[in-house]
Amino acid sequence: MTTAVPASAPVLTPAERRSAELEQQLNRDPGRFRVLTGDRPTGRLHLGHYFGTLRNRVRLQDLGVDVFVLIADYQVLTDRDTADRLQEYTDGLLLDYLALGIDPARSTVFTHSAVPALNQLLLPFLSLVSVAELGRNPTVKDEIAHSRQSAVSGLMYTYPAHQAADILFCKGDVVPVGQDQLPHVELTRTIARRFNERYGQVFPEPAALLSAAPLLLGTDGGKMSKSRGNSVPLGATADETARLIKGATTDADRHITYDPEHRPGVSSLVLLAALCLERDPHEVAAEIGDGGSAALKRTVTEAVNAHLAPVRARRAEYAADLTYVRSVLREGNERANAVAERTLGEVREAMGTFR
Ligand code: TRP
Repeated sequence: MTTAVPASAPVLTPAERRSAELEQQLNRDPGRFRVLTGDRPTGRLHLGHYFGTLRNRVRLQDLGVDVFVLIADYQVLTDRDTADRLQEYTDGLLLDYLALGIDPARSTVFTHSAVPALNQLLLPFLSLVSVAELGRNPTVKDEIAHSRQSAVSGLMYTYPAHQAADILFCKGDVVPVGQDQLPHVELTRTIARRFNERYGQVFPEPAALLSAAPLLLGTDGGKMSKSRGNSVPLGATADETARLIKGATTDADRHITYDPEHRPGVSSLVLLAALCLERDPHEVAAEIGDGGSAALKRTVTEAVNAHLAPVRARRAEYAADLTYVRSVLREGNERANAVAERTLGEVREAMGTFR
């Protein structure tokens, strides 16, 4: 029997429904959950990351959720031959996290390459997925289509299983991500389920916490990306911010409106100002009115610089003490290693391998 659904009710996908339920449970009982999320050290974190995920991590930490943040250094090699400037980008991520309020006393920041037991989980996990399953991952397909490499490496196909190890080594049950990461979370659920069926209950089946990431475009009108030079980094100076926004793509219509569908470049700038000012984008656009792109860009620059000023001030303080900053990672890695070794012990026990 079917029940009538009002025409206006939004149709949620199973992942969206799980995410909405999870959000409620997190607010009710934050201490029950462990979050695992991460970034590849391929560049500087930018405003898209900030409004999309970074703010949310700090919110979850402050709610009382146990947060693990991975600097996914092995995953850098999926779509490039070598990992350039790894130390610089890793330091940069640490500075951003600390400046935004990730608190090393409550949250654990770590890198792939420092946690051998995490990486070892990849082997049994790969045995639980078929080559066909790895090959039809839509995010992987998209990344292959955009890759600048002449050949696709084995890591490109297998990194989603590695990402399952990232999540499951610490028995993370909440993974705050954007839509593009959903196939990886689905694969993680599959791997957890199959492992538990085959060897006995070890892993939780984690769920994605989908953030309603606002659609901010890069300054060239394309997808905002760490490695494309089209974003405003959190760690940029006020002058660098002004220069980047000045160079952003707009259009010839002097009258500023918020109309993402027809005026993507202008609307993305309006939205950015609105997010920083915590105001409605239509109102921000109406106020600029006939001021044209120049007035729009002035408004955006001022809003971004004012909003980020305290974050950037804290970032500069941490940057003056890299010894401390790196000690945060060292301690995080120690904690992650202890957790990973415990889980690997359970996996060995369950599989009956050498201990
Ligand atoms: N693939 C993620 C990205 O490119 C980074 C990442 C690696 C990640 N491992 C993860 C995210 C585990 C969430 C959970 O942004």
